[in-house]
This record gives sequence, structure tokens and C-alpha cells, in this order.
Amino acid sequence: MPCMMADFEPDSGLYSHGDALDALNRSVPLEQKLAAIHEALYAQMNFVDRISVAAYDRATDLLKTFLASSPGHNDLVRYEARLSELPSLSEILRSGHPRVVNDLGIFRDGRRVHTKILEEEGYRSSYTVPLYLDGSFWGFIFFNSRTSGQLSEPALRALDVYAHLISAVVTAEMLAVRILAAAVKTAHDMVHYRDPETGAHIDRMARYARLIAQHLAATGATALDDATIERIFEFAPLHDIGKLALPDRILLKPGRLSDAEREEMKQHTVRGLEMIEAIAHNFGLEHLDGLDLLRHIAESHHETMDGRGYPRGLRDGGIPLEARIIAVADVFDALTSTRPYKPSWSNDEAFAWLRKMARSKFDEECVEALVFNAKKVKEIQARFRDSDMQPPPSPS
Ligand code: C2E
Ligand code: SIN
Ligand code: SIN
Ligand code: FE
Ligand code: FE
Repeated sequence: MPCMMADFEPDSGLYSHGDALDALNRSVPLEQKLAAIHEALYAQMNFVDRISVAAYDRATDLLKTFLASSPGHNDLVRYEARLSELPSLSEILRSGHPRVVNDLGIFRDGRRVHTKILEEEGYRSSYTVPLYLDGSFWGFIFFNSRTSGQLSEPALRALDVYAHLISAVVTAEMLAVRILAAAVKTAHDMVHYRDPETGAHIDRMARYARLIAQHLAATGATALDDATIERIFEFAPLHDIGKLALPDRILLKPGRLSDAEREEMKQHTVRGLEMIEAIAHNFGLEHLDGLDLLRHIAESHHETMDGRGYPRGLRDGGIPLEARIIAVADVFDALTSTRPYKPSWSNDEAFAWLRKMARSKFDEECVEALVFNAKKVKEIQARFRDSDMQPPPSPS
């Protein structure tokens, strides 16, 4: 058929409606998608003042709010609690029915700070729907209102549709992250076939990186959230993925490198970034939130605070935080391990050296975070020892 477009009057009114959920067509962060959905919902049901999504982690029984939308309000607390200690939410799973609370005051005597804050913020009623992916429970969505008596059966039916829309949007993102993690893990397993660094080095340094990130978050030094910390831990094993591209004469050299060889070795950072881009491209994940963490870890883990590192000579805060964290974790483990070209140092020697180099080479807060956790460092070393036998690649 020939194109008929010319027959349409531009002002015929056929195209006067704008898709209220156009944001869902675009590559924007989940918060923005939820905000767009909330806005569309609000146009129909203006009593829904807050939407939040909490994810459940079976391993720890923890339920955590990770997404919330309450326009015009600086967002309140992040919910974090053990599901087994929340009887009325547990009952949702037991009964298989969502929960309708027409008067949040019934929880007034409860001990949950979160519930109290919601009430103080003026929330009166709430509808809570459990979310499943392929039959397994992964979280709850909460619709909260400042008014009560609005949660009629027709309203609940409409909210069910929105709950499933939000669930679909969130799980699509969760699956993308899962795919990237699987691609990363596969690449990591392949690195083991060539890199003489043992799997134990990777196991340890990833955990040091997590200790540092958790400590920075706990002391309020930085605003790292749980998901970011977990991704740093997941991505840390890939910091040296670019070494795969180095020739044997360098990668496997038993002695010290010559200056020319060192220059070639430095290319592992740039090659690493190229490989990450290739993985992201091949899996169609270029726009994934969090991919920057992986890029920075691979490219910038040899930058130093004084700007004399490589490959770009970034300095101080210009070096992404995740790369500053990985640098300390990686070098600490390199120092305390035996390499074909060097003996191992004691932990105290390595801590002292890192402290001496802090500020000129390493982020002081990252160094202090590791030193503070000296006891946990020892536990990690006891759990992941080098052995002559190359151990199989191990998951977390
Ligand atoms: P790697 O063995 O994982 O070491 C990572 C980083 O730890 C090094 O980055 C360096 O900052 C620090 N490091 C490791 N060993 C020592 C040490 O004995 N003294 C001091 N002060 N720092 C140490 P760098 O130097 O950019 O090296 C990157 C990678 O290049 C190393 O990863 C290793 O795979 C390789 N490499 C570096 N120097 C040599 C060498 O002399 N011979 C061989 N065969 N490989 C080397
Ligand atoms: C939340 O809005 O973050 C949770 C609300 C609830 O406990 O009902
Ligand atoms: C619950 O008991 O499951 C929820 C009420 C609360 O947050 O205290
Ligand atoms: Fe490296
Ligand atoms: Fe390393």
C-alpha cells in the first residue's frame, strides 16, 4: 500500500491526546517512571498521596523500601524491617490477600517507627499488594492516602491494575540487573582461565571493597545505598578484566616488568572499559542504571589522588568513589599476597603503608575504613586462602 499520510488533516484532533505514561517509553531511572505512574494515577484517584515499593530479601528476611513517590514531600524514612516481625504484612502472604487499612491508627500502639512517622505525616489509610515474579514473592507495593474511607471495591480494582503495572516496570529493571550480573560473572569466570591472580585474590578484594563501602555508608561519610554497595561487591571481581587482552609475555612474566612492559600493562584499564562496553552492548544493557559503576571500576582503579595514576591522571574527587574504594581493596590484597615478583607483607605493614600513602595516592577515608575493619579483614583472609591448586571460580 502506498503511504496515505498526506490524507490526514494535521488539526483533525486524532492526535490531540498525549500519552500520560510516555515516560515509560524512555530510558529514565525507576524513580522517574514511578513518579509518572503516580501522576497518571493521581489524575484518576486524587486521594493516593504516596506510593512506595519495598523489596524482600529471602536470605536475610529483610524488607526494604527502595522506591517511593510522594509529590511535594521530602521523602520520609526508608522502611527496613524483618518481615517475620511484621505480623500484619506477614498475614498478607499467609492469607494470599492484599491488605486494606482504612485507619492507620490501628497501628498506633505498634513499635514500628516507620508506621508512627507515616501517621504523623498525616497518612490515614493504606492498600498493600504483594508482588510476585514467576510465582515467587519479591516485595510489596504500598498505596497510602491522607484521607480515609476512599478504598472502595472499584478503587481497589483500579489500584490492582496500577500495582501490576508498577510491578512489571520494576521487575523488568530487576531482570536487566540480573542479566548484567550474570554476564559479568561469566566474564569473571573466563578471566580465571588466564589471569595468574588466584580466585582467592578476587574473593578477598571484593569483600574488602564491600567492607569499605559499608563503613563509608554507616559513618555517613558518603550516601552509598545498599543497592550500590551490593553492585560494587558484584562488580569488584571485574576490575582487572582488561588483563585478558594482554599478551602472555606480560601477563605471565615471572619477574619485574621493564618500563616498556609496564606501559603495556597499564593498558589493562582501557581494555577493561572496552570490554565492559562490549558486554553492555551485546546484552543491550547500555542504558542500565549502575553500569557506570562497572565502567569506573574497570577504568579508574589505578588512578591516584595526586593525579599521577593511570590511564587518565584523574585526581582527588575527580576519581569516582567506587574506583577509589577498589584501589584500596586491590592494593591491600596485592601487598598482603605473594606474587611471582614479590613476597607478601603483613597486614600491619600494609595498613601502615596505605596510611602513609593516603591523600597522595589513596582516599584517606577508604584507607581508614579498611583499617577500622582489621578484624573482619583477618576473617576474610582466613576464609579465602591462596592455595597452590587453582580453585574453581566461586560465586559470592
Ligand atoms: P596487582 O598485582 O593486582 O597489583 C595491583 C596494584 O597493587 C599495583 O598496581 C600496585 O599499585 C600495588 N602493588 C602490587 N605489588 C606491589 C609492591 O610490591 N609494592 C607496592 N608499593 N605496590 C604494589 P600497578 O603497579 O599499576 O600494577 C598493576 C598490575 O601490573 C599488577 O596487578 C600486576 O598484575 C602487574 N605488575 C605490576 N608490577 C609488576 C611486575 O614487576 N612484574 C609483573 N610480572 N607484573 C607486575
Ligand atoms: C511505606 O509507605 O513505605 C510503607 C507503608 C506501610 O507500612 O504501610
Ligand atoms: C505490620 O505489623 O506488619 C505492619 C505494621 C507496622 O509497620 O508496624
Ligand atoms: Fe588493575
Ligand atoms: Fe588486582
